Amino acid sequence: MDNLNATFPFNRSRRAFLAGSLAVTTIGFSLPGIAATRTVADPFIERLLKRMTIEEKAGQLTMNGAQGIGRLVNPDTGPEPGLQTTLNDIAQGRLTGLFNADDVKLGRAMQKIAVEKSRLGIPLIFAADIIHGLKTAFPVPLGEAASFDADLCARTARATAIEATAFGVQWTFAPAVDIARDQRWGRVVEGAGEDPWLGSRLAEARVRGFQGGDLRADDSLLACPKHFAGYGAVQGGMDYNTADIPETTLREVHLPPFKAAFDAGALSTMASFNDTGGVPSTGNRHLLTGILRGEWGFRGLVVSDFNSEKELIDHGYAADEADAVYKAVMAGCDMSIQGGLYLKHIPALVKSGRLKMAVVDEAVRRVLRVKKALGLFENPYRSLDPARLDTDIRRPDTVALAREAGRKAIVLLKNDRSLLPLPKSGKSIALIGPFVTDKNNALGPWMVFPDMKSAVTLEQGVREALGANANLAVAAGSGVERPLAGGIEAAVAAARGADVVVLYVGEAANMSGEGASRVDITIPKAQVDLIDAVAAVGKPMVILLKHGRALELPNSVRNAQAVVCTWFLGSESGNAIADVLFGDFAPQGRLPVSFPRRAGQQPFYYNHRVTGRPSLTEGPPVGARYREVSTSALYPFGHGLGYSTVTYGATEISQARVPKNGTLSIKARVTNTGTRKHHEVAQLYLRIKVADIVQPLRALKGIRHLELAAGESAEVEFALTARDLAYVHADTVTRTDAGVFEVVIAPDAAAGQPVPFVLTGA
Ligand code: BGC
Repeated sequence: MDNLNATFPFNRSRRAFLAGSLAVTTIGFSLPGIAATRTVADPFIERLLKRMTIEEKAGQLTMNGAQGIGRLVNPDTGPEPGLQTTLNDIAQGRLTGLFNADDVKLGRAMQKIAVEKSRLGIPLIFAADIIHGLKTAFPVPLGEAASFDADLCARTARATAIEATAFGVQWTFAPAVDIARDQRWGRVVEGAGEDPWLGSRLAEARVRGFQGGDLRADDSLLACPKHFAGYGAVQGGMDYNTADIPETTLREVHLPPFKAAFDAGALSTMASFNDTGGVPSTGNRHLLTGILRGEWGFRGLVVSDFNSEKELIDHGYAADEADAVYKAVMAGCDMSIQGGLYLKHIPALVKSGRLKMAVVDEAVRRVLRVKKALGLFENPYRSLDPARLDTDIRRPDTVALAREAGRKAIVLLKNDRSLLPLPKSGKSIALIGPFVTDKNNALGPWMVFPDMKSAVTLEQGVREALGANANLAVAAGSGVERPLAGGIEAAVAAARGADVVVLYVGEAANMSGEGASRVDITIPKAQVDLIDAVAAVGKPMVILLKHGRALELPNSVRNAQAVVCTWFLGSESGNAIADVLFGDFAPQGRLPVSFPRRAGQQPFYYNHRVTGRPSLTEGPPVGARYREVSTSALYPFGHGLGYSTVTYGATEISQARVPKNGTLSIKARVTNTGTRKHHEVAQLYLRIKVADIVQPLRALKGIRHLELAAGESAEVEFALTARDLAYVHADTVTRTDAGVFEVVIAPDAAAGQPVPFVLTGA
């Protein structure tokens, strides 16, 4: 196989980067790694740096959490003690900012102290975990990813930025861009799922949405793609666990969404909690300096993850606090959040000569550069205007967008004999399950400042949709994880008296998210008992799943006539589900994670490498497979039905042999064969047939959204060039080889007949 010798900027080798970057960098240091990261000096920042004491420098690298510090201005007693300490620290230049503060007036008062009382007047920066909305909750990121719609993600991120900046937040610790191939990991819910291509497109869209066109604008929210890196690969899906990731897999699977997010302008990132091959990310110089700054030329700042520099001690990577700080700073972790260890130890480390002032200066430069990019020096009160609380929180257009996003996140897995949509009149409906009237689990995990009251429950949404025609029986049936006394009996009675049963079952919000990994990715037993009992009544049954991950589904769910993924849809949850249930909106979401047949298949994902003994998906157990189940997904990545039916014609290619500077056109005809309009998401998959690192069976390379009227047919077309055929080679460089490839345009990752073509060396 010829090597086309086309290396790309993405994942360039370190040597390639250094050679190409000399023209724009100032090599002023002899410290390894630092030289590659120096950029043209900013005179304003250099002047400031010269005037700073080492304590003030350490202060610029230290951020504290605001939760629990107390309240301001009780005219009689003054600030509470914790708050007074914080105010003193600000006045002395010992803090760079705060995170998760919930009082914009207090934030403004703090900023005034920083700007007017501290010696150098350096403004604070206010951060928070605004993951899927602030007071208006959008679907959890995984659910929103099911829209396969980058434009939607950009719009919800923009709306989130408007609310967050009205609330006094200038920097969000989002988006999470971790690729997650193991559904046991609770933080699957925070990202875009299992696929690096989709993850990259949504990562860049979310960054653009958060930051807007001008970082200095009052409603621009600095993005922080996280967690850098490999966090989604924690072993066994157990949160915080070790990750063993070969360099090639790191670069092929886990790093692309970060690169896409930085290319979209993100100026910060967060070091992940996990270690990779024994090196915790917060102390990982290869990641934080070698790849991030050296290869990619990242000009933003790296923040630790909630005390993760201190955790270097717990990992057994640092001897004590000072050692942990030294290792984190040397690795390239510029800012510490929560623990205060940088402030505590950097001055002494520098005075003792162990830590060079030049290294600290470089970290401070990065922080000041980001503050300057946000316009904080010109306007320290940007995004600290309490008047915006009245105008920009829960704006009607934002709430409407939450409903739109909710509808588009819903995935119809199954709809036998077109049970859905349900008619709006003439049928009595039993709404059963622990989530039917529940607001607490509507929004989903990772809402730091939730407005639970505003959540629309399923019952509210259904009543709103049906109006006077509503003929409903409502029964909880069970708790989320515990049975409810008499619950099943009441639910069965409701089912008996109804024409159709809608069961709303699954996970509570606290069953996914940080620290919420699960061994059994199932619906809790109390609810399965409920589903079994209701199914036995024999009425047509719609299962609405609430979940933060792909689940193993029990038989009574698999056998239900209709099964719908509804994730955690946010504030407008009940309305969005009702829109789909009654056909005001036809479902169009697609699975961003593969549904396994059994939990024990994890890690389970469509773009796995091909083994030497490929399994037959059905039939006798042969090859790489388990004894008990087929290796095929119960519902594959990319799957999702609408209320119409579609067929795909054969994939056709423009030529069987493509020169290395040519373009291959790939087409397929998609036809709406049903009687309703249909929204189709056509997907292009690629296989590299021979490579020096075994390649996945299929990898997503493109998507197209199509609106088809009943009976309408359209041709979808994709184009691929040599660049799209590149992969990370054994030497970790991304380049394209001549050789044989396969492509297919399909409705999901398991469908369609791939077509071969050859990329020639000339
Ligand atoms: C999480 C981060 C989060 C941080 C600050 C950590 O526990 O891992 O994702 O940004 O806390 O709240």
